[in-house]
Formats: sequence, C-alpha cells, structure tokens
Amino acid sequence: MADKRHSYSFPTRIEYGPGAMKDFTGIVKEEGLKKGLIVTDKGIEKVGTAQQLKDYFAEVGIDSVIFSDVKSNPTEENVLAGTQVYKETNCDFIVALGGGSPIDAGKTMKVMATHDGPLEKYDDMKGGDKYIEDNMPPFYAIPTTAGTGSEVGRSSVINVNNKKTIIFSPFMMPDIAVLDPLITVSLPPKLTAATGVDAFVHSLEAYIMETFHPMADGIAKEAMEMCINNLSTAVHNGSDIKARGNMLMASAMGAIAFQKGLGLNHAIAHGLGIFYDMHHGLANAIVLTEVMKYNLSRDTIRKRYASLGDIFGVPNEAEKVIEAVDAWLISVGIDTNLADLGVKEDKFQALEDYALGDPCCPLNPKKVEKGDVIAILKKVI
Ligand SMILES: [Fe+2]
Repeated sequence: MADKRHSYSFPTRIEYGPGAMKDFTGIVKEEGLKKGLIVTDKGIEKVGTAQQLKDYFAEVGIDSVIFSDVKSNPTEENVLAGTQVYKETNCDFIVALGGGSPIDAGKTMKVMATHDGPLEKYDDMKGGDKYIEDNMPPFYAIPTTAGTGSEVGRSSVINVNNKKTIIFSPFMMPDIAVLDPLITVSLPPKLTAATGVDAFVHSLEAYIMETFHPMADGIAKEAMEMCINNLSTAVHNGSDIKARGNMLMASAMGAIAFQKGLGLNHAIAHGLGIFYDMHHGLANAIVLTEVMKYNLSRDTIRKRYASLGDIFGVPNEAEKVIEAVDAWLISVGIDTNLADLGVKEDKFQALEDYALGDPCCPLNPKKVEKGDVIAILKKVI
C-alpha cells in the first residue's frame, strides 16, 4: 500500500541491441580483465555461439575457457565442476551464455569462486543469503532465449541433493545483462513460443499481485504489450531482429516486474516440470487461461485483467481479455493439452499437493483451496 514502507531496486546495467555481444567484449577489456570462464550448455556450444563469443574475446586480447557441462536443471555438481575450472585456469571473470540454466549455474559459480561449500549452506529458505559477501568476481549474463529474464535477477535455482534450492543475494546480480537479438534468431519456433509465453506470464502474475509497486506494474503492462505485438512474428519469422529484440527486452522486463512475486500459474507449472519434465514455458501456457478464469472471482484481479483490453484491441472486460489470450496462444502455435504431453489424471492429486506447497502459491491474490488445482487441471487435460 502507498502508506507503507517498501524497498525497490532496478540496478542492472543492460547493453541492448544487434551486435551487443561483440561490443560487450570491448567493455570487458576496458575493465582490465584478462581471462573469462564462459558458462554455457551443450546445445549453445553445438550451434557455435560459445565459440563466437570466445573469438570476440580473442579479438580484443582476452583469453577465455568454455565450460558447457550444465544440465537443463543445473546441479550442485555442475556448479562445483565449473568453479573448479574457473580456479584451475586462473580466470578473473565469469560470463554465462544461454537460457536460464547456464545463467543460474554461472551466477552460483560466481558465489562459489569466493565462498566455501557445501552449497546447501546458502539455501535462501534457511537464511543462506547472510553468508554471501560482496567479494565475488565480475559476472555477466548473455541470454540466448527470451523468457526467464534470469539475466536481471538476483537469484538462482540449483538442484542440491535432488531438491530445487534457491540461492539468493543482491550481490549475485549480473554486472551487465547483454541483450543481443542476433544470437536468438536460431531458437526454433516451438521454443520461441514457449519461452515467450513464460515472459508474458511473469508480467501478468506480477501485474495482478496486490503489492504496492506501481513501477513494476508499468513495466509489466508494457512488457505484456510487447509480447502480444511481437511473439507471433518471432515464432513465424525467426530472423526478424525487431521482433526478437522486443521479446528479449520484454523477457528482462517481466523478470524485473516479478520482483512483486508470481502466483498460481507458476505454482502449477513448477509441478508439471518436476513430475513430467515439461518445458516450463509450455506448462505455464497450457494452464494460463484456466488460471485466469479461476482468478476472476477476485474483484481486484478482474479489474486488472479488464485493464488489458487495450493491448489486445478488445473491450476492457476481463472475459474478453481471456478470450484474446486464448486466441493469442493459438496464433503462436500453442494449442496442446496435458493429455497430449502424457499427463494422466491419476497424478492430479500429487500435482495439486505440489502446487499448494510451492512458494508461489501463497502469493496468488486469490487464496487457493484444496481441490482448486485439480479442478483447473481437469479443464486442460
Ligand atoms: Fe517462469
């Protein structure tokens, strides 16, 4: 509320635009740094983007080492292995190149470069942030997908002892987020669509949150409009640099907005990811309109949905906006259901139990009761 204390931060330096990745190596040179650990994954290494970055560094006289052993759900072992390479090869900075996984892994290697293990000690749920000091090497993030926005975030999610563990510290924020649409053009249409919808849902869930944060609300609404106006082009014409660039920016904006928090949509998507290894953005997309319908009975949310009519070019009525979201999902090629992806009804109870225990669930402005998640899942099977 406007009459209460709040603390906000929007501190990330962003270098945006076609060619930003190449220019960024010159900025690192000016910092006087000598050798970088490039943290990426096998897919990015295979398409040659990691080597391209290494070549750009070489052109300005900076040495670098590629570490690509990062799983799609990064583990403590990945983090420790990368940290070891960082130390053994005498690097003095880290740059993460990829989707959310390499960025989260790189962020955590930055912590482990100057902090003792085990990683469990830094579990945010156990107050681990108090052990993270501001003595870490420079860290840069270059996203190759437009969705997670991890490049402007202060936390990472790492699999520690088979448990998703959040490591958080304001000192983990990348020193520079490099948003270069040229390196996202090779992302296939299905992944472009799924990651882009994730960016939209970040903004939507932040926007309906009742916390007093008008700056985040403004950013969220603008980011949603950018998603609506650009995702279809990015999906159907992947080499459109303007559409790719707008989606990269919308993704970063969504992550800035969701400092307010996420809600039920993400709580359910997290469970689908854990139980079925479903792509995070796709899981969010499949339940999106049913979660919106579920939330309609809370008046504050209904009004927020209605206010989005303008960006869809429909009347400012919540139901019309939900119809428009449905049409938009189909236009970007997402018209699947849970059954198509192998989800069985006998898992619904477990999925509901997981969602109700997810940290996003209690943040949903409409209080979620037992049976509610199962009712939503039944509508999208
Ligand atoms: Fe997400």
